[in-house]
Amino acid sequence: MADEERILTLRALLARLSEEYHVHDAPTVPDADYDALMRELEELEARHPEVDDPSSPTRRVGGRPTGPFSSVAHEPPLLSLQNAMDAQDLREFDRRIRRDAAEADVAYVVEPKIDGLTVVLRYRGGRLELGATRGDGSVGEDVTENLRQVAAVPRTIDAPSGLFEVRGEVYMPWPAFEALNAHRLAQGEPVFANPRNAAAGSLRQTDARITGERGLELFCYEVRRGAEPQTQSEALAFLGRCGLPVNPLRFHCATIDEVIAEAEHFAGARAGLPYATDGLVVKLEDLRLTARLGATQKAPRAAIAFKFPAEEAATELLGIEVQVGRTGALTPTALLRPVRLAGTTVQRASLHNEEIIAQRDIRIGDTVRVRKAGEIIPEVIGVITDDAHFLRAPYAFPQTCPVCGGEAVRREGEAARRCVNPACPAQLREWLIHIGGRAALDIDGLGPRTVDLLLERGLVTQPEDLFRLREEDLAGLPRFGEKSAAKLAAGLRAARGRSAPRILFALGVPHVGERAAELLCERFGSLPAIARQGEEELAQVPGIGAVIASSLYRFFHGGVGERLLASLGQLGFSLGAEPQPEVSGGALAGEVVVFTGTLSMPRHAAQELARASGARVESDVTRRTTMVVAGEGAGSKLARAESLGVRLLTEAEFGVLLATARERN
Ligand code: IVH
Repeated sequence: MADEERILTLRALLARLSEEYHVHDAPTVPDADYDALMRELEELEARHPEVDDPSSPTRRVGGRPTGPFSSVAHEPPLLSLQNAMDAQDLREFDRRIRRDAAEADVAYVVEPKIDGLTVVLRYRGGRLELGATRGDGSVGEDVTENLRQVAAVPRTIDAPSGLFEVRGEVYMPWPAFEALNAHRLAQGEPVFANPRNAAAGSLRQTDARITGERGLELFCYEVRRGAEPQTQSEALAFLGRCGLPVNPLRFHCATIDEVIAEAEHFAGARAGLPYATDGLVVKLEDLRLTARLGATQKAPRAAIAFKFPAEEAATELLGIEVQVGRTGALTPTALLRPVRLAGTTVQRASLHNEEIIAQRDIRIGDTVRVRKAGEIIPEVIGVITDDAHFLRAPYAFPQTCPVCGGEAVRREGEAARRCVNPACPAQLREWLIHIGGRAALDIDGLGPRTVDLLLERGLVTQPEDLFRLREEDLAGLPRFGEKSAAKLAAGLRAARGRSAPRILFALGVPHVGERAAELLCERFGSLPAIARQGEEELAQVPGIGAVIASSLYRFFHGGVGERLLASLGQLGFSLGAEPQPEVSGGALAGEVVVFTGTLSMPRHAAQELARASGARVESDVTRRTTMVVAGEGAGSKLARAESLGVRLLTEAEFGVLLATARERN
């Protein structure tokens, strides 16, 4: 989409989102998305002054009042704040301040940015005369009666005799928010998405008593009329002396580096606060200088909000790329208009599968919401529907494999469409990478680049070819020295000694993860034994569902599994032991042992030890179980063992038992 078109889309979208937020107290997207879209629009408008529009949302301060409350004019208007997204923005802000400050001293007060809603309180002769919301900054709503019911709002204060007006933030602390939502849930009412909405909804009740019961709190941070403190610290101290609640948490910083250090520290500490904050407000200490620097249309020059990096952002979906995974699954990736998210620029995000795209009706050109959770790659979590969404074509997911052109089918009950051509080169590539992976055969030296090289040279056309490679085949490869050839050859040799569950996992059967592979090997002992089972026998293994069972069955019957297993056997892989005789005369003969919790050694190693001593190892505690070895964090299995009166051992006790039994034998 051309920039101009994007500007128009964003203006319409932001106008709607702003109305939802300010007028109806019912935002449909997180604040971070709104902020990111606003920033994108600001940047685009700066690049395209020819499409200027004075009514653009970038020029407006907020929403207009609505509802049953009468209007209050704010004079001077209640401005908003400019935003800093990172340290660089803060330094830029500091540079501008210092440039314009002449010889005045520059120091900052940093306050938590409370995620509540702004109110103005006007006292006359120390008595509360008016309480108003911010509205659009120029005109707010008279909510005096409601605020009188809020215990945190003093009805009288120890203030100058005439008119005294302050600005502050009404907010709902986390405990009150959680209690309110729990109550609403129990009543079948919709819950509030965040404390800000809850505070706004509570303040704008038609029945003031309800406002009074919601546990609202207040922090004041600005004197608007009736006193002229010289510094922000003085203003806060003065407000406190008047009897108004002031946030005790604030930092005095002499330099922007100190501000940045506080911000870093605070970002980690804010989770422990009893109220929601979405950042910090950095304010000039010197209020005369603040007045001299003045304001832009929207915000004072002497203050800035430092927003914590958002975990979510919104941006335009430019296209969808479909890749073929190891199991043939066609995985769509979103190609995004670059957007800043949690400190990085994101251009690609996971769209998971065909089903999700259809369910969320994600169309190219839409504005999508993107989330980054932990280390995982970002994912698209939904669409912000704009008017043009319905004019865009629904996304047509490819019906054939984009790599080999073969048929791609979607099986019943599966969310992904898969390429079913076993010779598909894309699948083989991903499969080989998987085989070499840590949790599979852990082959040193078999990374994606080596895999590509082997495929390019035609040295590997099926997975088992890997293990037929000789060192001299490798040494001749471009970019492959003797050392790397030796390393890979050693890695391939070592792979033969891996345990049966790892080999099974390496086979890459769709849906068979590490845990399923362990359970299956535990139950059937060897890979050939697993391959012999019917679908039903497989599905009966605790922890193995119908989907895994049917996938395994297909793999070993008619799939590539049979051939592969035979080859691996010939190549010297140990495919597990056939189920052991139940009583072999060992130290633990006749025992049915279950391991649970975290052990100091890998679980399969402990299980092998037990089996070697003649025990039968199972994964679930049943009436048959005779012994449970419980490691750290053992939970329900331990409880079940206790309730069944099964003999319980710590790992150390188990070790002693094995050792002493061995001595006796
Ligand atoms: S100072 C001229 N200090 O953040 C602007 N604002 O995004 C003066 N807010 O509308 C604002 N905590 O509602 C200031 N400690 C604090 C704040 C704070 C929350 C809110 C305020 C403002 C919004 C700006």
